Amino acid sequence: MRLSVIGCGYLGAVHAAAMASIGHEVVGIDVDQRKIDALAEGKAPFFEPGLPELLTEGVASGRLRFTTDLSAAADATVHFIGVGTPQQKDGYAADLTYVNAAVDGLVPYLKPGDIVAGKSTVPVGTAATLAERVTPTGATLVWNPEFLREGWAVQDTIAPDRLVAGVPAGEEGERAADVLREVYHTAIATDTPFIITDYATAELVKVSANAFLATKISFINAMAEIAEVTGADVTQLADAIGHDARIGRRFLGAGIGFGGGCLPKDIRAFSARAEELGRGESVSFLREVDAINLRRRDRAVQLVVSSLEGGVYGKKITVLGAAFKPHSDDIRDSPALDVAVRLRGLGADVTVTDPEAIENSRRIHPQLTYVHDRDEALTGADAVVVVTEWDEYRRELDPAYAATLTKGRIVIDGRNCLDAGAWRAAGWTYYGMGRP
Ligand code: UDX
Repeated sequence: MRLSVIGCGYLGAVHAAAMASIGHEVVGIDVDQRKIDALAEGKAPFFEPGLPELLTEGVASGRLRFTTDLSAAADATVHFIGVGTPQQKDGYAADLTYVNAAVDGLVPYLKPGDIVAGKSTVPVGTAATLAERVTPTGATLVWNPEFLREGWAVQDTIAPDRLVAGVPAGEEGERAADVLREVYHTAIATDTPFIITDYATAELVKVSANAFLATKISFINAMAEIAEVTGADVTQLADAIGHDARIGRRFLGAGIGFGGGCLPKDIRAFSARAEELGRGESVSFLREVDAINLRRRDRAVQLVVSSLEGGVYGKKITVLGAAFKPHSDDIRDSPALDVAVRLRGLGADVTVTDPEAIENSRRIHPQLTYVHDRDEALTGADAVVVVTEWDEYRRELDPAYAATLTKGRIVIDGRNCLDAGAWRAAGWTYYGMGRP
């Protein structure tokens, strides 16, 4: 099939490359010339395992190309909208400028029978409004949310755990669903559940999934707060409740909380939209979810301050991690980087290292010292703070060896990802989050 993908950020670039890899002819379109030039050369503009290979193969095969020229969409019959919906500068609601611009820009190139498939995360009600602009061209709008996780984006796109599409009622919707079945033929062939629904449900599936995940993380972080005043261990508690299949252990990792380009902005946009709909109280708990999440960063900073005699002023603190999670170079709303910045604000001499996120971090926070080499970063540290659970710190850093590099023997495990017993045995004073 001939597909166009409007917006070549995280979502769009991965979607374009993944669709080409399963045999479609794809043109990726973006207004950012630098991004397009990089993608056209088979280079990913961000760190995502497996993506460079997919881009190189796709471009070499001739099935994948990139351009800034929106008229290239005219040759395609299915058009994916994958532009960003960031948080508004002056509020919590989602900024729909890019989605509106993408659809308006696309309209002149649409033909009767084309499908426009929105993938961006949007406030419920957006698809119905956009359909008013698409329908007069004879094309059909569907809403087809994306659930990819950074670091696993290629796999999540090619073999998702479910497909969801909001389509118009009647024959038009049935035909659109058939076209999507053809687009996603490889996933359908392996019996991936495909939920065909209306626009509002499809839009809500996405935001409610993210709201649920955020709530699950904040739930366990709230238990960490209780553990801290009772001497309980939140990691054991999570293991124990996680054995209940109704609860499940995934996303019960207590620590400095969630960040990234999705969960924080999506729960805020959801609250804002619910307020507009007169149902603010239905999701008022999301404000608490957000507040718990942000408090965990304060807690990590407090732990560092109280662990060092005389506070952090002038102390050399090594921060292991800057990305919002491992396998990513994304620092959007990163709790890791936030902790580093706050420690620096308290007068600490902060050195940050991360396997992938240093360049992005330096651009936003040039005031911090960045060192690529982990061991060099650790050398002479009074305290070590682990804030992103990369294998380089979690599995591959031997506490006895680390002790030969640092000055102090204090480790704050902001992700509860270290083997506390092993670190203590090697002479370290270990502090976890919600652990005795
Ligand atoms: C998320 C959703 O998982 C994905 O389905 C959606 O499409 C986009 O948003 P992503 O932002 O890539 O994906 O990250 P995710 O793996 O969900 O992690 C989000 C944050 O939660 C990270 O900062 C992570 O460190 C944190 N987290 C996750 C925890 O603090 N504890 C956990 O147990 C799990």
